[in-house]
Amino acid sequence: MALLDVNHLDVRFALRRGDVQALRDVSFSLERGERLGIVGESGAGKSVAAFSLLNLIAKPGYIAGGSIQFDGRELTQMSDRALRHVRGHRMSMIFQDPMMTLNPVLSIGEQMVECLKAHRRISNREARAIALNKLEQVQIPSPAARLDQYPHELSGGMRQRVIIAIALLLDPDIIIADEPTTALDVTIQAEIMALLLELCEKHNVGLILITHDLGVVSQVTQRMLVMYAGRVIEQGPTREIINDPQHPYTQGLINALPQMATPGSRLNQIPGSMPSLDNLPSGCAFHPRCGFVQRADGSTRRACIDEVPGFVTSGNCRVACHMVAEMLERERIPAEEIR
Ligand SMILES: Nc1ncnc2c1ncn2[C@@H]1O[C@H](COP(=O)(O)OP(=O)(O)OP(=O)(O)O)[C@@H](O)[C@H]1O
Ligand SMILES: [Mg+2]
Repeated sequence: MALLDVNHLDVRFALRRGDVQALRDVSFSLERGERLGIVGESGAGKSVAAFSLLNLIAKPGYIAGGSIQFDGRELTQMSDRALRHVRGHRMSMIFQDPMMTLNPVLSIGEQMVECLKAHRRISNREARAIALNKLEQVQIPSPAARLDQYPHELSGGMRQRVIIAIALLLDPDIIIADEPTTALDVTIQAEIMALLLELCEKHNVGLILITHDLGVVSQVTQRMLVMYAGRVIEQGPTREIINDPQHPYTQGLINALPQMATPGSRLNQIPGSMPSLDNLPSGCAFHPRCGFVQRADGSTRRACIDEVPGFVTSGNCRVACHMVAEMLERERIPAEEIR
């Protein structure tokens, strides 16, 4: 059994005008030490997915259905106490903004010692030694001096190194990183990503990496999920999806990369924008933006407009698309020809 197994997860926000379904039928798993990327445009539900893994969805949000099995235990049914243990020891989270994690009025050392002592019975001296060791692991210059500094005294890149050190503090099994480098300069982004990858590999820590950057996903992760309007619409091995995307939305994301554009021409942006979750189009939520609703012969594939597509298997990937389903159906050799 996988370390993390998410099945048919539904998350809703109870708003005055009615429930908004932020995640629908999200299923995926993560093996120990595996790295999974989650991509999709703004509003796709990536952060909601990350927060719900730690059962951290704040009201009016709630988990409306499905299951999250972590190491064989059901997270959605866990007591607050057991959940705190999981959050502290087993899964940690890195946010885009380091100040979501760092307390501005405590020194780096104080925060790390406090965090360690909340979860382990150890002395101040022992906790400080562990904190220093973690700061060394994230290759921060003059680690001992950093312990007595305050967050505002560090550069953005150094702060994010401290955040990684804190995420590693209790030797977790999984780190969930939500856009961990978007707030940083491009060169620093690459350094921080390389560091995160190196540390996860070295300590066999699983990583769930949420990012807009398909380049980073292809360098860092082994498997990926593509999300659109609260659903996973394609998932599988990262290499396969990047090299041969099946879903028209994934194809659009890859075609929109600057390196795919002809020099001097405009970028190939996907037309339109993601629908709002409380006003989803009928059928496939992507259909108003999809160039494949019309078949090559000019006929319209009604299913795209009328029916929410289920998953089909293509190679090692799972894809929710009527066009792909139709193509696979056509490719299937009729039984009489096999005989
Ligand atoms: N607190 C909330 N109250 C109501 N709806 C919410 C709330 N948080 C999220 N949502 C809904 O969930 C959707 C997905 O939000 P989410 O933050 O997961 O997007 P995202 O994919 O992480 O986007 P981004 O790339 O901009 O971070 C939002 O568009 C919104 O409709
Ligand atoms: Mg987000």
